[in-house]
Amino acid sequence: MKKISFSILGLGRVVDKRVFHMFKNEIKNGYVKAIFDINKNKKNKFKKLFNCASENSLDKFLKIKSDFVYIASESGNHYKHILKCFSFGRNVIVEKPPVLKVNELEILNKIAKKKKLKFYTIFQNRLNKSVQYVKKKIEKENIIFVDLSLIWSRPQSYYQDWHGNWKLDGGVLAQQGIHYVDLLIYLFGDPNKCISLISNKVNKLQAEDTHTSLISFKKKGLSCTVNMSTAFRPRDFEASIKIYCKEKIINLAGLCCNTVSVDKLIKKKISKSNILRNFSEKVPSGYGLSHRKVFQEIIDYEFKKKTKPLKAYQTLSTIKLVNMMYKSFDERRWVYFKEKKIISKLGK
Ligand SMILES: NC(=O)c1ccc[n+]([C@@H]2O[C@H](COP(=O)([O-])OP(=O)(O)OC[C@H]3O[C@@H](n4cnc5c(N)ncnc54)[C@H](O)[C@@H]3O)[C@@H](O)[C@H]2O)c1
Repeated sequence: MKKISFSILGLGRVVDKRVFHMFKNEIKNGYVKAIFDINKNKKNKFKKLFNCASENSLDKFLKIKSDFVYIASESGNHYKHILKCFSFGRNVIVEKPPVLKVNELEILNKIAKKKKLKFYTIFQNRLNKSVQYVKKKIEKENIIFVDLSLIWSRPQSYYQDWHGNWKLDGGVLAQQGIHYVDLLIYLFGDPNKCISLISNKVNKLQAEDTHTSLISFKKKGLSCTVNMSTAFRPRDFEASIKIYCKEKIINLAGLCCNTVSVDKLIKKKISKSNILRNFSEKVPSGYGLSHRKVFQEIIDYEFKKKTKPLKAYQTLSTIKLVNMMYKSFDERRWVYFKEKKIISKLGK
């Protein structure tokens, strides 16, 4: 049987801590054909580990034909790396965030369409069992309000490289929180408006280690309070979305919304939080376990068996909301989804 081949551009932490293990132990009918990193040590290490091809320059690497190039370089470099892959006629799977600026995603989508290239992105938490369960359940609920909390930890040393600067990354919202802002959009649809406050509570970085926001969604004027920070110590604690419904509270919780529980409001007492074990997973870290599902879905779709993978352009609202949140702090005002140009400091 034919196997789907992948080339990997960028061999940093996410490859080291998650994607390598996934390709080696979890993926069916897919394999790594070639890798490339400008860092020679990483390139040599993964060339041996994957037992695959490599090259001395990005151009030569992209001449190696594979079914997909998976891009895991710094977020602010995604745009130019995707453009380059497209110029070589390669299909792309890009790590979150696909790009930092709204217009970049629009330009790339047009090129992909014109060249008939596949252009997917990875927001793996959408495929968590817990999230899939909640997505189906909430359709019938009368939701009163929503609360998102990200209580994570990043040491100062984390911000010594590209992390935390506006050009390549942004702060807790654009790097960590974006996963959960994406889940809000996945669950509740497009926002209407938002207003944010940002600050640095513990870490020193150009962008923010702490972000507070109020988002209102188009659907029934639903409102969501947001608190996110990497200032906690000594470790990541939780990323949760609590959905307060008329008669129950649905809690997506765990390190990365990997568990789900329901508190029922019955007469005078609150029933004990009931973790739905069939829809919750234990995860070793904030990366979670759903990268496997994203890649497997892409592979299976190539064989025309399963559901359509997430196109990068389908996450335009997520990129737009992240930029709206930053813009609202800069301009000290509500920013509306319908505004024509949503441009913030992100990517500048
Ligand atoms: N989905 C997730 O849960 C998740 C988790 C962590 C990171 N990420 C995303 O993955 C991306 C990478 O993050 P990371 O933490 O692994 O970063 P990292 O800094 O550890 O790795 C980036 C790598 O890209 C390489 N690189 C840069 N320019 C290159 C070029 N021109 N050619 C080849 N290689 C090049 C760097 O040398 C580096 O090794 C980011 O966009 C980040 O947001 C996603």
